[in-house]
Amino acid sequence: MAKVVYVEADGTKQVVETEVGQSVMEAAVKNGVPGIVGECGGVCACATCKVRVDALWLEATGERSQIESETLAFLGDGGSGLRLSCQLKMRAELDGLIVHTPETQY
Ligand code: FES
Repeated sequence: MAKVVYVEADGTKQVVETEVGQSVMEAAVKNGVPGIVGECGGVCACATCKVRVDALWLEATGERSQIESETLAFLGDGGSGLRLSCQLKMRAELDGLIVHTPETQY
């Protein structure tokens, strides 16, 4: 188990227990976290699961995959720390991960 802290645009926080191997998107959708849709089910095709990884966790979460970068670039949205949460798989060392959800995914 590993916790993820989701921080909404207004500062509201929700802490969710995840399974190792579960994506940050899957954990959010399963637990009703506002601001993450996950319309494509996690195949990196919709970008309705965007989050901004907290600066403290950038190194631990690593780099985006090529397809993730391409999907975000297609939307003109590739700023630092921006990730598709369906591509962030939980690992024990990410326990306590903080991600910021956008006001809207569209
Ligand atoms: S759920 Fe569709 S890109 Fe992440």
